[in-house]
Amino acid sequence: MITAEIAHLIRHNTVAFVATVTPEGRPAVSPKATVVIIDERTLAFSNLRSPGTVRNIEANPLVELNFIDVFRRKAVRVGGEARHAARGSARFGELLADFGPWADYADRMKGIVEIAVTDARMVLSPAYDTGLDESELVRQHFERYRGLVETGELVGPATREET
Ligand SMILES: Cc1cc2nc3c(=O)[nH]c(=O)nc-3n(C[C@H](O)[C@H](O)[C@H](O)COP(=O)(O)O)c2cc1C
Repeated sequence: MITAEIAHLIRHNTVAFVATVTPEGRPAVSPKATVVIIDERTLAFSNLRSPGTVRNIEANPLVELNFIDVFRRKAVRVGGEARHAARGSARFGELLADFGPWADYADRMKGIVEIAVTDARMVLSPAYDTGLDESELVRQHFERYRGLVETGELVGPATREET
């Protein structure tokens, strides 16, 4: 079940990693930023450019998602069963109503992947074992990222993906 603590992390982190299994039995992990919480047992993300993930869940609907708050050093691990509602289907229309934060992308969605959540739990970094608390970890990691921005190290060579 998606508790208030889990929902908070999902809403405030930026990208989920979605793990599927290919028809050949290989693991596949792919980033998705457009995840929304439909209700306490359902998540969804838009299929903007997810041909592999959609093909995989059509063969095997079992998925895991990881949401990582890199500043608080906390994560959420979600297991579930996924299905793809293609654009034009009745279910796509129903789910789209919850994609207000991603309305700018609505015309480009090829479908929406809906996940019936079977398991959801918090994961804490071993950094907490050292006695550091959340506010100190946020301070440390925020400073680290700010340093990367200020020195220009965060900006790498330009890339473009065509799928
Ligand atoms: C930060 C980030 C966020 C992304 N969010 C989404 C998303 O919400 N929906 C989507 O379809 N693709 C998204 N993508 C693009 C796909 O993950 C990417 O094209 C990937 O290679 C597709 O692989 P797949 O077909 O195995 O899912 C995102 C990529 C990045 C880097």
